[in-house]
Amino acid sequence: MPSPDASINKSLESRYFTDATVFEEETRKIFHDRWLYLDRSSAIENPGDYTAVELEGQGLILTRDREEQEKVYYNMCRHRGTRILDQASGHCSKVIRCPYHAWSYALDGSLVGAPHMEETEGFKKEDYPLISPAHATWEGSVFVHLGDDPEPFEESYAPILTKFAPWHIGELKTVHREVYEVAANWKLIVQNYSECYHCPSVHPELQPLSHYRATSNDLEEGPFLGGPMRITQEGGGLSRGGKRTAPPLPGLTEENLQQAYYYLLFPTLLVSLQPDFVLMHQLQRVSANHTRIICQWLYHPQAIDGENFDPQPTIEFWDNVNREDWRVSELTQKGIAGRTYTPGPYSNLESMLVAFDREYLKAMA
Ligand code: FES
Ligand SMILES: [Fe+2]
Repeated sequence: MPSPDASINKSLESRYFTDATVFEEETRKIFHDRWLYLDRSSAIENPGDYTAVELEGQGLILTRDREEQEKVYYNMCRHRGTRILDQASGHCSKVIRCPYHAWSYALDGSLVGAPHMEETEGFKKEDYPLISPAHATWEGSVFVHLGDDPEPFEESYAPILTKFAPWHIGELKTVHREVYEVAANWKLIVQNYSECYHCPSVHPELQPLSHYRATSNDLEEGPFLGGPMRITQEGGGLSRGGKRTAPPLPGLTEENLQQAYYYLLFPTLLVSLQPDFVLMHQLQRVSANHTRIICQWLYHPQAIDGENFDPQPTIEFWDNVNREDWRVSELTQKGIAGRTYTPGPYSNLESMLVAFDREYLKAMA
């Protein structure tokens, strides 16, 4: 006889959170087969500025060339493979130079200097430019695709290409950035983000500002999931003290002003749209039980330039919420790694987790 709870959706089996083989399988089937957020375009304002990002075991350079175009390269010298830039960010005034034998590359990726290689018969500089993965810029963020045969970004993101337009995310600037090292599988972070069932017990400060049941979803299936939660106080915001820390973002409708919208962009980008700012979390997988999370607080330049601009109450509030979330995610990782864990039943408040698991298992099939 089937068990009485056979119809209940349950959490994933433990190997999905703990097993190094599953982690490797995810690399191939998901992370080298999807568009991944790399960095904000505003992180490199001027030609020659760069950020060097470790993503999915690949070193990547994001830079801006003389034509002001964003460029992405593998951070690997074409001579003998050396990692070229080893600072997280900086500026290359003329060329990107390898520290080993001083091969140098122009900002457009072409090899322009290779000492003594003219003595090597048959060697042509044009055969050895920096290697560039497919990349695209959307809403002020640069995305890369590390696979061999990428679907065009506009096709992958077609369902939400214009959905966030009212928030003008492309114009927003990062006022604060926090990096967290979390001892939990990336999916536990995504799952934690995708429900507020935990909010009354985990986030006492959030509860009075946005009730955990005042939520709905407008993207319920597929790689983009989430929806709005009501902000309780008329004209309020999600910050320490419950006030907005900037005027509403230009372009928002009346309806947007009393809502905070939370979306997962599969696999690892979390976008939280607030009336006065936008919060972005990028999850970087490190291992099956370790995730690096980069959180950015984005505000409109007009607000930043405004008199008495002080985002601190918002920064502190969300930093605290983040840490509360990471803590329970780490506790979950610990429990799942034990020998007694079996998949447990999801509540009705966890429908987004069911949808995420479905999307995830489909990708892993
Ligand atoms: S490895 Fe880069 S110049 Fe030799
Ligand atoms: Fe939370």
